[in-house]
Amino acid sequence: MAAKPILVIGATGKTGRRVLTRLTGLGHAVRGVSRQTEPPFVWERRETWPEALRGAGAVYVSYSPDLAAPSAPGDIEALVSLAADAGVERLVLLSGRGEHNAIRCEEIVRGSGLPYTLLRASWFAQNFTEGALLGPVLEGLVAMPAGEVAEPFLDLEDLADVAVAALTGDGHEGRLYELTGPELLTFREAAARISKAAGREVGYDAVTPEQFHAALSPLAGPEYADLLTELCREVFDGRNASLGDGVREALGREPRDFTAFCETASEVWRP
Ligand SMILES: NC(=O)c1ccc[n+]([C@@H]2O[C@H](COP(=O)([O-])OP(=O)(O)OC[C@H]3O[C@@H](n4cnc5c(N)ncnc54)[C@H](OP(=O)(O)O)[C@@H]3O)[C@@H](O)[C@H]2O)c1
Repeated sequence: MAAKPILVIGATGKTGRRVLTRLTGLGHAVRGVSRQTEPPFVWERRETWPEALRGAGAVYVSYSPDLAAPSAPGDIEALVSLAADAGVERLVLLSGRGEHNAIRCEEIVRGSGLPYTLLRASWFAQNFTEGALLGPVLEGLVAMPAGEVAEPFLDLEDLADVAVAALTGDGHEGRLYELTGPELLTFREAAARISKAAGREVGYDAVTPEQFHAALSPLAGPEYADLLTELCREVFDGRNASLGDGVREALGREPRDFTAFCETASEVWRP
C-alpha cells in the first residue's frame, strides 16, 4: 500500500515551501496546498478543507495571515476536528512565541486527541529577506515598534528541519519546541549585522505603535495594520527576550546564528 501523503498547508509560504522541498527530497509523498493550488485550500472557505485532508497521514499547519488573528482559534478548532475525522495520524502546528491567540490555538491542538507537535517560533530572520521587512531593508531603514527589546531571530532553515523531523521521525509526539536562534539581538543590532553583510547602510527607527500603524495602514489595509500593531505591542514587551532550546531538543544540534543567516542572505540585499 502506498504511504499516506503529508499535507503541507501554506505550501508556498516562507516555512511551507522549505518543509515541502525537504519532504520531497527525502522521497515522501507530499501534498502542498494554498489558495493557488488545485484543489485550493482557503482558510475562509471551509468547504475546500476536506479535499486537502483526504487520505493525509500527517499535516503541517501554517496559518494565514497569522495565528494571532481573531479568526485563528475557530479555524484551528475546525481543522483539527476535520483532521481527526479524516484519520490524520500526526499534526504539526507552527505557532508564535508569546502571542495569546497562538497559545489558545496550541491548547486546541493539545486537546484534540490527535498526536501533535507544537513549534513555538520566535521572530523569523527571513522576515528581512522574504517577508515584510525586505522592502524597508532595501530602502535603508527598518522602522519597528520594538524599542530596544532583544529578540532571538530564528532561521527558517532550522524551523523546517524541526518540522520535517516532527512530521516523519519518532520522539516528537506531544512535544512543544520553543524555537529560537542562539543569540538575542535588538532590531538595531540586527540592522547593523545586515548592513555589514549587505555592504550598505541599514538603520533602525524605534517607532511608536501608533506611528507603525499609521505607516502600515495605507500599504496593507487597516485590518492587517491593527493585527500586526497589536501583535508587536504584545510580543515586544520583553516577554520573548530569552533563548529557547527547541532546535537542540528536536535535532541535537545548535541553531544557526544571525551572522551566518546574513552571510547567506546578503545577495538579496545588494543594490
Ligand atoms: N513571521 C514571523 O516572524 C513569525 C513568527 C512566529 C510564527 N509565525 C507564524 O507563521 C505563520 C505564517 O507562516 P509563513 O511565514 O510560512 O507563511 P507566509 O510566508 O506568510 O505565507 C502564507 C502561506 O499561506 C498561504 N495563504 C495566504 N492566505 C491564505 C488563505 N486565506 N487561505 C489559505 N492559504 C493562504 C499562502 O499562499 P497563497 O498566497 O498561495 O494562498 C502561503 O503559502 C503564521 O501563522 C504566523 O503566526 C510567524
